[in-house]
Amino acid sequence: MQTHEIRRRFLDHFVKAGHTEVPSASLILADPNLLFVNAGMVPFVPYFLGQQTPPFPRATSVQKCVRTLDIEEVGKTTRHNTFFQMAGNFSFGDYFKEEAIAFAWSLLTGSVADGGYGIDPEKLWATVYLDDDEAYSIWHDRVGLPAARIQRRGMKDNYWSMGIPGPCGPCSEIFYDRGPEYGVEGGPEADEDRYIEIWNLVFMQNERGGGTSKDDYEILGPLPKKNIDTGMGVERVAFLLQGVENVYETDLLRPVIDKAAELTGAAYGVKHDDDVRFRVIADHARTAAMLIVDGVNPGNDGRGYVLRRLLRRIVRSARLLGAERPTMAAIMTVVRDTMAPSYPELATDFSRIETVAVGEEAAFLKTLGTGSKLFEGAVEAVKAEGRTVLGGTEAFTLHDTYGFPIDLTLEMASEAGLSVDEDGFRSLMAEQRQRAKDDARARKHAHADLTVYKELLDRGPTEFTGFTELVSEANVLAVITGGERLHAASAGQDVELILDRSPLYAEAGGQIADIGSITGQGLRIKVNDVQKIAKQLWVHKVTVLEGQVVEGDSVLVQVDPEWRKGATQGHSGTHLVHAALRQVLGPNAVQAGSLNKPGYLRFDFSWPSALTEQQKQDIEAVTNEAVASNFPVNTFVTDLDKAKKMGAMALFGENYGDEVRVVEIGGPFSMELCGGTHVQHSSHVGTVTLLGEQSVGSGFRRVEAYVGLDSYRHLAKERALLAGLSSTLKVPSEEVPGRVESLLERLKVAEKELEKTRAANVAAAAGDIAAKAQRVGDVLVVAERAPRGATGNTLRTLASDVRGRLGGDAAVVLLLGDSDGKVPFVVATTDAARAKGIKAGDLVSSFGPAIGGRGGGKPDMAQGQGSDASGIDTALDGFRNRLRELAG
Ligand code: ALA
Repeated sequence: MQTHEIRRRFLDHFVKAGHTEVPSASLILADPNLLFVNAGMVPFVPYFLGQQTPPFPRATSVQKCVRTLDIEEVGKTTRHNTFFQMAGNFSFGDYFKEEAIAFAWSLLTGSVADGGYGIDPEKLWATVYLDDDEAYSIWHDRVGLPAARIQRRGMKDNYWSMGIPGPCGPCSEIFYDRGPEYGVEGGPEADEDRYIEIWNLVFMQNERGGGTSKDDYEILGPLPKKNIDTGMGVERVAFLLQGVENVYETDLLRPVIDKAAELTGAAYGVKHDDDVRFRVIADHARTAAMLIVDGVNPGNDGRGYVLRRLLRRIVRSARLLGAERPTMAAIMTVVRDTMAPSYPELATDFSRIETVAVGEEAAFLKTLGTGSKLFEGAVEAVKAEGRTVLGGTEAFTLHDTYGFPIDLTLEMASEAGLSVDEDGFRSLMAEQRQRAKDDARARKHAHADLTVYKELLDRGPTEFTGFTELVSEANVLAVITGGERLHAASAGQDVELILDRSPLYAEAGGQIADIGSITGQGLRIKVNDVQKIAKQLWVHKVTVLEGQVVEGDSVLVQVDPEWRKGATQGHSGTHLVHAALRQVLGPNAVQAGSLNKPGYLRFDFSWPSALTEQQKQDIEAVTNEAVASNFPVNTFVTDLDKAKKMGAMALFGENYGDEVRVVEIGGPFSMELCGGTHVQHSSHVGTVTLLGEQSVGSGFRRVEAYVGLDSYRHLAKERALLAGLSSTLKVPSEEVPGRVESLLERLKVAEKELEKTRAANVAAAAGDIAAKAQRVGDVLVVAERAPRGATGNTLRTLASDVRGRLGGDAAVVLLLGDSDGKVPFVVATTDAARAKGIKAGDLVSSFGPAIGGRGGGKPDMAQGQGSDASGIDTALDGFRNRLRELAG
């Protein structure tokens, strides 16, 4: 049964049983504690916790999930995927254990003709939590599963949570027995490779607190209601139903392996190490594509780093399989073709996926190139010292600085006949990991401080009044500092204030926070920053200037109107530039980040190369035409689906069912999901001046612009500059470029003239120099400083001229120049001198060291350059002495 079919049957089964089908949420949700969505229940957490009322009592979904903790296991086991699809059914205080078990059983064992998976019941096992007699008896008495195929397991295996504070509960897992050829008897307790877990039924009934491991955390108490959360691994069911050996050989991943075999020339199923590489490529390519489509870009930390690591592991694996050329584009094409039937965004957004993935591949191939040079240098050094082991430090540097994976270092070292100090390498890696862990712990700790906001979050979001008013009355709900509730603060203290409402914009969507003030009876407070917590709570970071602020106080909150006016110009200007960029460059110019504040904006987007002058001019023109059109700016709130259907540019991280705010400028010209503050008509943005464009990492560009009065100030400054030039050059400003060009032309001509004159002077010096020849034994020796300006060709011509003037005698000429600290030199010999065995090239060693120079050449002429003019006299003496010896 094909994977797409397995998904479909799951959803149909549960829709028939009264569940609402909910589309998969994005892999990226706002929770800073969660790198990626890693289970089907994640988008429903507020329903389990009772923070929000679910719009339906039962739901079913196939959720995109990414787990990268076990990345090193990928390809080595039968069942580790970094991306997988979790099919789930959920009950929010509706049904509980009995129905959950019955629903799962009927889908697994129901006949294919009736919409089930047709699995032989004899192959299925179940586990329950230690003391969960209720679940045990449902399996045993209602389902009829023999006692021998039900196992009780502890907290580590049969008590489930997200790994962080939140809902949790005992669970019951369903396993499939692959048969005796895959391992020992004895159920999942004995062997989880023979008995494969396919479905986890979680009886979500408690809330957990912090903790350090799967089986060590505090249970805070029961949830408001008893819920069901289940997760069936679609890939695992596919691998079992398709009769293949592992998840990588199922219908959605096998084509990627086959493509990789074609591209690399290696064969799948021959060597174990190669097979692991093939599976890594198949697994990682799919995960990378899914992450990119949800808005992740390669980077050096967090989500971006995971993506970078996945992409690099693909490149490395392909290379180890023998690929000599880039393979990414072809591999991603196969991922698109297999996955698009379930995830159409892979097809519609493919060129962005390709740009990002191929860009990272190119960058890493370059890195590998640089790393290889370092590697070769290290190998040479080791060999020169007569050793045979490449040090752990070198291997670590290659890994850490150049992204050189250790197995690549191992392989290349063995090709060079060396081994690697792996222990040394591993201990350095362990040190680094410890540092990372400490760092993560520090960050977790920082998050633990957020508990002080929980009560306030539960109370509901801060009401943002700033769309309609710049001054609002508000109540002080909390005074906080360093994660602790202070209740009051007085003059001189820096604290955080939580208010019930606020007109001050909290930094979001690229727009920085408003500037403003808070006042009350005898109270004056300066607002330094406003940030949001969990998208809902406005945290005002303030300094109390005068008086005392106490929780419960009524205060007046004011936005600086000038600042806000500038901020709206900056933000609306950003939307206009974004729309213009897409109009000029097309839909591949996808937003990657932005920042705006009064007078200034910058916008990052995916684009493979520098913008041409014409493109920049066009973008600026389209933007300013939109300003001049005086488009009305409309904002309205709707749900995500409707907004997307209208063609609004969706940012990442919104969820199904989310209410979103749409900002529309000129109807179809610009429509974006955005919570920012905007002007009312596009003309209020004022002139937009594009400042320039630059690269910000491979595959991404940044444009910057001034808006409003800052735009005018910038242009005025440029005009003043031009006016200055025009007065210096004494021409009207429109003639400045022509004048500069003609001046440059004249300068070039003059420089050529000068060069000629110098050459003539140098040539004229030949007679004088030749006249200084001294006889040493029977050789005529000229050793002189060359006239100024004699370098390169001139010096060479001069030397051969001097030599010519010395006729048929045995003669040797050395001329040393002196130009900008450099000491160019030429040595020339006559035929007769060479007949005596005097060679120009050999003479360099007699004077070179004195001027810090090296060089060499043929017997008749040698040329080179030194760097120390202070040694010229010593050099001339050295040369004469050598000739004295030779002439003997
Ligand atoms: N949330 C449960 C899991 O991820 C179903 O295993």
